Amino acid sequence: MHTESESLLTRRGLLSALLPAACCVCQTAAGQSAVERWDSVYRQRHPRLPVQPSQFLVQSIDGIKPGLALDVGMGQGRNALYLARAGWTVVGIDISAEAVRQVNDRAQRERLSVRALQQSLQDYALPAASFDLILLMYLHNLQRADTQRLQRALRPGGRVLLEAYHVDVAHADISAITGVPRGYSEQEIKALFDGLTVQVCQRVDARSDWSNGPQGTAPLLRFTAARPR
Ligand SMILES: C[S@@+](CC[C@H](N)C(=O)[O-])C[C@H]1O[C@@H](n2cnc3c(N)ncnc32)[C@H](O)[C@@H]1O
Repeated sequence: MHTESESLLTRRGLLSALLPAACCVCQTAAGQSAVERWDSVYRQRHPRLPVQPSQFLVQSIDGIKPGLALDVGMGQGRNALYLARAGWTVVGIDISAEAVRQVNDRAQRERLSVRALQQSLQDYALPAASFDLILLMYLHNLQRADTQRLQRALRPGGRVLLEAYHVDVAHADISAITGVPRGYSEQEIKALFDGLTVQVCQRVDARSDWSNGPQGTAPLLRFTAARPR
């Protein structure tokens, strides 16, 4: 029988196979400014930063057997840490070194199976057919080249789970921590993940985990889709 620390090491061994040899993010001027912006937000522990896991995530994984998850743009790791506490093995990537430092500290203190890497989605060498779950929470710069790679990184039956602002956010009076957010339309997100079977693709007016309008809500898009078996 494996002890708890042995099984943690085994899971970490699995993780190390997925890790890149070196960090190669943020070579461009634009990339550097995004890194600096997010580093500063996380260093200051901005009071509007969400700490609770996404309710959409909590509801969506209820009853699903834990496996290997990738949290893209994990921030301070509220969702990655939640998944790990629920028995998942998690790789988290983010362009912010400060976010990565905070998540790895927390995971180490709690002995959780989370490995956070300073890596942009664009530079991360996604392993093929590896993840049971890919989280994309409030990441508003997804490009087709990346979503096509993300689809291939899912195991058959594996899912993408996304919550972001809906494109209608352009007409809402919302100022996010790092500027006016850009949102996705239902059509855009379905086209970005056109190799998957859509399970949920819903626009809702609900309380966002990030910034809200004067009514305390924001137009959001919730999306889950699975790789066909
Ligand atoms: C709005 S925050 C969301 C954080 C987290 N997903 C959450 O919901 O709490 C967006 C995060 O994405 C990260 N990010 C932005 N562009 C990225 C990219 N191209 N690759 C990886 N991370 C990125 C930022 O550093 C930031 O931590």
